[in-house]
Amino acid sequence: MDNLYVQKLSVSFDGFKALDIDIFEVAQNELRVVIGPNGAGKTTLLDVLCGRARPDVGHAYFKDQDLTKLSEDEIVDLGVGRKFQAPTVFTSLTVADNLMLAVKANRGVFASLFYRLQAAERRRIEEVAERTGLEDALDEVAGTLSHGQKQWLEIAMVILQDPTLFLVDEPAAGMTDQETFRTGEILQGLAEDHALIVIEHDMEFVRQIARKVTVLHEGRILVEGPMETVQNDPRVIECYLGTAMERDEHSAVG
Ligand SMILES: Nc1ncnc2c1ncn2[C@@H]1O[C@H](COP(=O)(O)OP(=O)(O)OP(=O)(O)O)[C@@H](O)[C@H]1O
Ligand SMILES: [Mg+2]
Repeated sequence: MDNLYVQKLSVSFDGFKALDIDIFEVAQNELRVVIGPNGAGKTTLLDVLCGRARPDVGHAYFKDQDLTKLSEDEIVDLGVGRKFQAPTVFTSLTVADNLMLAVKANRGVFASLFYRLQAAERRRIEEVAERTGLEDALDEVAGTLSHGQKQWLEIAMVILQDPTLFLVDEPAAGMTDQETFRTGEILQGLAEDHALIVIEHDMEFVRQIARKVTVLHEGRILVEGPMETVQNDPRVIECYLGTAMERDEHSAVG
């Protein structure tokens, strides 16, 4: 069973409860979007799932293990990949070389650079480049990519770790509308054979990709369900969507 099952999980910082979840479950190959106001605990949830933060109490079961008991490396090995905001790309290397390093990550950087790629690995890199819209950029130096392409390269590098569950925090931040839409398509493609938890504030992007949505508010799950239900829920409109929509309108005007 490759579903994620979070049970009675709470995280606090200096006595302040940042996260207090009763049950949160993500099925195999499900794409789950998590929304909520600033400070709702969204990033903290991902931090717990990738071993960066430890809960006071609670469990996060995945593949018969409790993620809250594992180290960050053990969690990656188990198949939980996370795309971080901070870049991990080598800007002076080409896209292809960056992907090759991701394939060979466990050999060490220098061994990898001089390692001759097997045909199968070359094909895998090309396949992942295609899934992330980078097939024509393989020979470009990573530092010259657009902001969107750099983000897709980061996604590609995580895919090459072979995660079963993929955690993505605000993937569309700073992207143009076109890049944002393309990112939505990439994530939807990934959901064919990965489970994903995607955190996002951009409501147009959320509407593009969302199936089931979880709304966090003050560390708790306020509402969970299909996008249509969630966006018409008065509690969600009051605590989040009202202000998010105003933001959209302002940015559309300005
Ligand atoms: N390392 C930390 N130390 C102290 N407080 C923290 C820490 N990390 C998060 N918090 C607090 O926990 C709460 C939840 O933060 P979190 O970053 O998870 O929110 P978020 O939903 O991701 O918000 P945003 O939409 O702004 O990214 C906030 O009040 C935040 O200030
Ligand atoms: Mg956050």
